[in-house]
Amino acid sequence: MNGQGQPLRAIAARVLQSIENGQSLSQCLPPALNDVADNERPQLQALCYGTCRWFHRLDAELQARLKKPLRKPDRMVHHLMLVALFQLRFSQQATYAVLNETVEACRTLDKPHLTGLVNGVLRAAEREGEPALPDDSARYSHPHWMLEKLRHNWPDDWQAILDANNAQAPMTLRVNALRFSRDDYLQHLADAGIEASATRFAPHGIQLASPAPVDRLPWFADGAVSVQDEAAQLSTTLMDLAPGQRVLDACAAPGGKTCAILESCGGLSEVVALDESADRLPRVQENLERLDLVATLKQADAADIEQWWDQQPFDRILLDVPCSATGVIRRHPDIKLLRRESDIVPLASIQLGLLEAMWQVLAPGGRLVYATCSVFPQENHRIIRRFLKQQSDAALIQPNVPWGRDMETGRQMLPAPESHDGFFYAVLEKPEP
Ligand SMILES: C[S@@+](CC[C@H](N)C(=O)[O-])C[C@H]1O[C@@H](n2cnc3c(N)ncnc32)[C@H](O)[C@@H]1O
Repeated sequence: MNGQGQPLRAIAARVLQSIENGQSLSQCLPPALNDVADNERPQLQALCYGTCRWFHRLDAELQARLKKPLRKPDRMVHHLMLVALFQLRFSQQATYAVLNETVEACRTLDKPHLTGLVNGVLRAAEREGEPALPDDSARYSHPHWMLEKLRHNWPDDWQAILDANNAQAPMTLRVNALRFSRDDYLQHLADAGIEASATRFAPHGIQLASPAPVDRLPWFADGAVSVQDEAAQLSTTLMDLAPGQRVLDACAAPGGKTCAILESCGGLSEVVALDESADRLPRVQENLERLDLVATLKQADAADIEQWWDQQPFDRILLDVPCSATGVIRRHPDIKLLRRESDIVPLASIQLGLLEAMWQVLAPGGRLVYATCSVFPQENHRIIRRFLKQQSDAALIQPNVPWGRDMETGRQMLPAPESHDGFFYAVLEKPEP
């Protein structure tokens, strides 16, 4: 039980209900975590992440066990049973505790008339074990449309992608090159008893053997390192930064890449961090302050250049567009529940629109890096191909790098269980007149 008298499973059921209503985990989990005692937070987080991760698999089992679906007003109890099934199938929690405490949680959700049903379903689940799974959607625990799209797009890799999406992501750091060399910081981690190794491709990346709270990382509060996946780190390495350049980070919040740009090259004439979200932009400022870096922050729709552009062209632009985030599902398993197939076409149109607008503010001789954390070619390769068809002065640069797959117009990283997320990068240059 927590401070407010609600069992953790009941709180987790409420979080799942909020996700079903369209909120993301990052929106609805923090207030729920604030409602429980410090020592219960890791367990609540694990329940919410784990149940999202295995939602489609657990839901297939629950639907098979229920003679008829619960009424809409009782939907919370459906989610409560999913949380309990997650524990039965994927945790070490003692079965009697899962059963008793879930029945108790059902009461605190004001559904005492359903305790018998909950008890019966969970006892049968425990007695009979996991049933045969009806299809790949249940087996790999992904929505049907996403699985079919991945199978179609990646005929040789779709199962590996799905498995990677269901794995726990490692914690990866970016060493602030203005403060430490990677080797020195690895030594400081070792001295602090934290096992870690250098990332394979990103020059300032360090992967921890197991996640650690940031306050255990040496000089974290003083800006020694940031938490950033290796694939995200690679996007800024393609920018070919040099002192004197004016740089735009067009979709900047929460500022991970803005800070990486500033850390990787001293003497840039200005870095503008632009984002349309008033809620997310303050996170950029917080990150800059912790790392003791300076950028010009602007809140605007990047595509509406009249609104924010001062007519001074940019030598370098990073365009890290909003996308389906299908390359980072292992870090955000709620994407499986939130994303709809119908989101992809509108996203692609926003992405192409942003690219067209950014081309107008790019200086002749300048370079633009387009990046997504998506694994769908519709948001990646095909956006660049469409853009190149209509923009005859755009020159495609093939980065000479040992990572990612060659997609004709850019490089695609697929999520790898033991290391980086899924990402796509394309590099375009505007010739001098
Ligand atoms: C993938 S996230 C960026 C992550 C960021 N680059 C980082 O590394 O920390 C995409 C961002 O684009 C912003 N965004 C979406 N549409 C936009 C638009 N039309 N103009 C500017 N920003 C936009 C969102 O608010 C979101 O913060």
